[in-house]
Amino acid sequence: MKQDIAHNNYQADAAIEVKDLAKHYGDVRAIDGISFEIDKGEFFGFLGPNGAGKTTTVRVLTGIIGPDGGSARVMGHEAGSLEAKQVMGVVPEMANAYLDLTAWENLMLMGELYGVSSGERQERASGLLRQLELFPRKDGLVRTYSKGMKQRLILCMALISDPRVLFLDEPTSGLDVQSTRLIRRMLQELNRNGKTIFLTTHDMDEANDLCQRVAIIRKGKVVAIDSPEKIRLATSNLHSVLVCLDGCIPDEELERLPGVNGLKNHGDKYQLYTDDPGNLVVNLVNHCSGRNVQIISLSTLAPSLEDAFLALTGGESQ
Ligand SMILES: Nc1ncnc2c1ncn2[C@@H]1O[C@H](COP(=O)(O)OP(=O)(O)O)[C@@H](O)[C@H]1O
Ligand SMILES: [Mg+2]
Repeated sequence: MKQDIAHNNYQADAAIEVKDLAKHYGDVRAIDGISFEIDKGEFFGFLGPNGAGKTTTVRVLTGIIGPDGGSARVMGHEAGSLEAKQVMGVVPEMANAYLDLTAWENLMLMGELYGVSSGERQERASGLLRQLELFPRKDGLVRTYSKGMKQRLILCMALISDPRVLFLDEPTSGLDVQSTRLIRRMLQELNRNGKTIFLTTHDMDEANDLCQRVAIIRKGKVVAIDSPEKIRLATSNLHSVLVCLDGCIPDEELERLPGVNGLKNHGDKYQLYTDDPGNLVVNLVNHCSGRNVQIISLSTLAPSLEDAFLALTGGESQ
């Protein structure tokens, strides 16, 4: 991938260009020489577990901190420059609305900071608040908002300047279902209307549902850049059912159940891998009742990011 980028100059249609970017904190290589390009109008995911370097990358790209090495450009402007800041909207990891102002006042203040005219900021604020279902509460103090409402307001604030590129750092992490759904729907619509979106997440389903391309990041390095379909395929047979039985059924018998792709023993439990956990649970329950063996506990497990990394990188640890 580095070679691809090295042999040509930055592309004119790139919205975000990152080349050999590095950022260290003492001995910790938070970003360890990453390179990628994102096209204008692309919905790009930055997927990785906690501590992978997602927030550090967003902070460099949005100009909060400077890199130790390499370069980053947004819409052709150097990250951190005023020009770059003017074309972007940011939903940072930590919310930053004023709690003792209303949602409306926060939006007016943000619009003013970005030099949006009074008429325009009122019109945009009304539209955004309606889309994110906050309009009826627009005159309430942000202090009285739920976490999900605050996050929806932060998204409105990021959009008040009608930015061309939107950065979001785990925007739905820990939110209620309704806020998550509203935010995801809004992002899809923004992207349909041409906005470039850079979204970090540790949620493979979110990356699968929203993104056109995903960089998989681990320990400050990009380990793969792939379509979500590739991640989906790599992880689809990594679902599993964990079961504890009050009685003995031989491993071979469990492995032969329809839908089982593999089996692991964990102490007194069996972990059965499958791409269809719902169906496997039914088969398992039927089989056990036919053998007069009781099920003590049973749970279904989604693939972990660690499993996905191993599947996508062919078992390499980096
Ligand atoms: N301000 C900081 N000072 C020291 N270490 C930091 C700082 N910010 C991040 N790190 C470290 O850099 C690594 C990447 O962190 P971060 O970018 O926050 O990851 P992510 O957002 O993917 O969870 C982690 O090991 C983290 O502990
Ligand atoms: Mg983070």
